[in-house]
Amino acid sequence: MRLSLRFVLPLMLILVSIAYAVAPLVDKLTLSWFVRDLDIRASLISNAIQEPLQERLAAGKKDNIGDFFARITQDERLYALGYCSSPTSRVIASRSLPAEINCTNLGRWEGSGERLLQSVQGPLHVAVKTMSGELAPAGRLVLVHDMSFVTRRSEETKRYVLYLFMSLMFVVSLITVIIAQLSWRGWMAGMRALLRGEGLLRKPGTIAPSTMREFNPIARDLQRLIQELESHTRARDEDQINWTPESLRAILRSELRGEDVIVVSNREPYIHQRRGERIEVQQPASGLVTALEPIMRACSGTWIAHGSGSADRDVVDSNDRVAVPPDRPVYQIRRVWLTADEEAGYYYGFANEGIWPLCHIAHVRPTFRSSDWTQYSIVNRKFARAVVSEAKTKAPIVLVQDYHFALLPNMIREELPDAIVITFWHIPWPNPESFAICPWRDELLDGLLGSSILGFHTQFHCNNFVDTVDRFLEARVDRDSFTVSLRGKLTAVRRYPISIAWPPEKALLQKSVSNCRAGIRQVNDLPPEHKLGIGVDRLDYTKGIVERFRAIERLLELNPQWIGHFTFIQVAAPTRAGIEEYQHHEDQVRAVATRINSRYKRQGPPPIVLKVEHHEPNAVYEYFRAADICFVSSLHDGMNLVAKEFVSARDDERGVLILSQFTGAARELPEALIVNPYDADQCAAALQLALTMPPDAQRDRMRLMRGLVAEFNVFRWAGRMLLDAAAMRRRNRLLANAGRVEI
Ligand code: F6P
Repeated sequence: MRLSLRFVLPLMLILVSIAYAVAPLVDKLTLSWFVRDLDIRASLISNAIQEPLQERLAAGKKDNIGDFFARITQDERLYALGYCSSPTSRVIASRSLPAEINCTNLGRWEGSGERLLQSVQGPLHVAVKTMSGELAPAGRLVLVHDMSFVTRRSEETKRYVLYLFMSLMFVVSLITVIIAQLSWRGWMAGMRALLRGEGLLRKPGTIAPSTMREFNPIARDLQRLIQELESHTRARDEDQINWTPESLRAILRSELRGEDVIVVSNREPYIHQRRGERIEVQQPASGLVTALEPIMRACSGTWIAHGSGSADRDVVDSNDRVAVPPDRPVYQIRRVWLTADEEAGYYYGFANEGIWPLCHIAHVRPTFRSSDWTQYSIVNRKFARAVVSEAKTKAPIVLVQDYHFALLPNMIREELPDAIVITFWHIPWPNPESFAICPWRDELLDGLLGSSILGFHTQFHCNNFVDTVDRFLEARVDRDSFTVSLRGKLTAVRRYPISIAWPPEKALLQKSVSNCRAGIRQVNDLPPEHKLGIGVDRLDYTKGIVERFRAIERLLELNPQWIGHFTFIQVAAPTRAGIEEYQHHEDQVRAVATRINSRYKRQGPPPIVLKVEHHEPNAVYEYFRAADICFVSSLHDGMNLVAKEFVSARDDERGVLILSQFTGAARELPEALIVNPYDADQCAAALQLALTMPPDAQRDRMRLMRGLVAEFNVFRWAGRMLLDAAAMRRRNRLLANAGRVEI
């Protein structure tokens, strides 16, 4: 409205001034027209009455003249009539002749003299006509017309002029406001589209609308400015913050007004399992849970996940919620129940037999079934409903986790258009050719592009995703800002390397390294100075456990001095056992371990100890602290947090990490011994190097790695996403407000 007034007020002022200037002019003009009309009328009347008047004068009937005049002046306009035979004579007149008029002063109104007389009766028009007749001597006739009607008409005219200008003012203002509104909206829509990256970044062959073209230079500058500002602010903010649970909470409070965070993942952070009469709480072996659990402890909020434990239903309230962690509850798990068919199709089928092998190039063929796809869509919809019911505002912050929920971002957006949806894809994203084999590739891409921010561990995976979208969807891809715009909705594709909590929980480091070394060796029947390697993984074919065992075998072949002096303990959490490929894999892992152990069985402790069972985090940390070497040999891994956990466990700055080059972690921890897990000789050489590495060299490497994990911890990972979400929300508000500026 304020902007409209800026247009309309000056217009009104101008029109009012014109009205004021014009009204007296119109008045003057109409008056002169009326005077001229009355002059003519006076001449006409004078001509008409001259003859009868002269006749009366000639007949000496002067008394009659008054009556004669009185009859004539019955005319509504003719106010009075008078006759003067000479300047000195007495005027013969109708009764109404004003006293100001007499025979001596008639000269005032004669010829081009005055015409108007302001008498007590009001404004009068006075005309004096000379009579020259044959019947009577010449004299002068005075005709007085009433001019009060002129005043009345002048008032009326002024009123009409005023009405005219007022209507004009209204119409002009209305047209101005409408045109301004339309132009403003058009400009704003164009500007917003351009800021979102549309128009500037059209596909070849398409034509940008003219508004867009007008805005291109300015929008480009604006975009650059916003990007510079954002990256500058982000870098400054990030570097200045000491990343802890407290700083994360502070960001939530200050940048996101203390809004609740909703996390959605398939795997829940705490699983309630029935063991006879008892209910046991289990923390699953999951990198996702390792990373997100400390975040939820810091931020509170709600974690929506599949309730998969045998006692999960027994501990929830009427809203399917349970407060966790069990010892000191600070956030809620909202459990979603799945039928056996849903779990089989969505989790085992589409997610783990389809997308998992599709994204991990580990030479296992993906299997795609339409029945699985149907269940995947149904379950994503089920979780979308859960998000809507858990959202306390219309614009919640939702952190969607992983490949189980590729359709969920779009479904959330349909229900909660103002939500900030941050999706994190924990596994690799393959190149477009590999991804293209998925029969539902377009639907998956479309679903993910409902996210406000889509995160991957590495820039390489961001590039692959953007290339895939560019190849298969009609979307605008901006490689400068790494954004994708689909149907007017912008998704920022960003690299957020995931990490672990730093410092690690005190309880995990409570037992000293020397106690852990002694304890683990004792439990596993190993001599006190026996060299120990450790591997901790889910029993998944992507983890390269078979390749790892072959490398150990090769080490013993090439360096037989380690036979009976080196043992590798593989902790393997059972996983996805319902899938045939995993059953084969477990068989294969067991078989390779047995074969190697039997090869060296007479020469002391076995080279490999395989523990296919679930271990809680404190047990895993004990192994990390007891080991001389940690070997991560994934064939393909988004990040691999085991590598970072090993580093965090070693506060004694000892131990060597051997790390597959195909993990995201390898890009962050170059001080590890980086290997190709398919190259058994190279891995064996790395094992040999690790087993013989002097303590100083171990310390130097470990210090650098610990420094990195400390600085880039999981609070920074989440904090960066939340800061980006806050920046995005600010930008959206700015654009929405700009569009809403009233005019
Ligand atoms: O690596 C991808 C991932 O989702 C991890 O985030 C997690 O560690 C693991 O898979 C969990 O697997 P699942 O939930 O199937 O046991």
